Amino acid sequence: MTATLIDGKEIAAQVRTEVAEDVAKLKQQHNVTPGLAVVLVGDDSASALYVASKQKAAREAGMHAEDHIMPASTTMVELKAVITKLNDDVNIHGILVQLPLPDHLDEHEVMEFLNPMKDVDGLHPVSMGLLLAGRPRFVPATPAGIQQMLLRTGHSPEGRHVVVCGRSDIVGKPVAALLVQRNSDANATVTVCHTRTKNLADITRQADILIAAIGKANAITADMVKDGAVVIDVGTNHIPDASKKSGRRLVGDVDFDTVSQKAAAITPVPGGVGPMTIAMLLANTLKAAQLAASGQFGSS
Ligand code: GUN
Repeated sequence: MTATLIDGKEIAAQVRTEVAEDVAKLKQQHNVTPGLAVVLVGDDSASALYVASKQKAAREAGMHAEDHIMPASTTMVELKAVITKLNDDVNIHGILVQLPLPDHLDEHEVMEFLNPMKDVDGLHPVSMGLLLAGRPRFVPATPAGIQQMLLRTGHSPEGRHVVVCGRSDIVGKPVAALLVQRNSDANATVTVCHTRTKNLADITRQADILIAAIGKANAITADMVKDGAVVIDVGTNHIPDASKKSGRRLVGDVDFDTVSQKAAAITPVPGGVGPMTIAMLLANTLKAAQLAASGQFGSS
């Protein structure tokens, strides 16, 4: 079997068009322009690129976007001062603090300091708690993007066995919480595997939908995949490639060449989950602005 490609770029473009239409409506009906603030601490070049592309996408959707770029030596007090301003700024509806932060800044402390009504990253404990309680407000962008990719390509997770490899706060845990929910866009049977899982391949082979969020190139090989499975590759790993000018190449967590011979559908890297993450961040920012415009703003 040769897998169908799940085109994240194409689906992300659809979502971004829908978001842009709703941004225009919000402006027309409530005179509100969604505002996104992105905070970057340090000079990691990959993070700087992500931040630039998030802002560009927000502007293309008709939103206001601003960045706050701070040196790697920024203290917690200085970072909290910037976040306080953004928490209180009525023109900013969503705040994203780009991760990872430099080692001396505790990420949990920073996330908890955000106004939870502006937590478009979905990483504040209030957002996580609401998701677990089955009343999601802001779902982290990558899990939300994975769900949309499945639904929009006719691979409903309902009643399927979803196996998630990885238990990170950004992907593994929230995607499991999202797809196990009691609603027709979810209703999956979910298994979460991680570094201490025994007999990993025995479990991944049971997956109707396999989500790889491991952080290791080519970790999922064809022998770990059931015939006809749907494979979602969240990995972003750089491996050496002398044929590239940069000397390296972006690959996922899935050994694409062999797994695509077995799976029914698969996401490529790049061009799969990555573009969806930005699209869903925009969707969350729109939602934050809609909540603010409808007066559901203030308390967490
Ligand atoms: N770094 C890599 N992915 C993400 C994300 O989804 N949110 C934030 N804030 N930082 C990231």
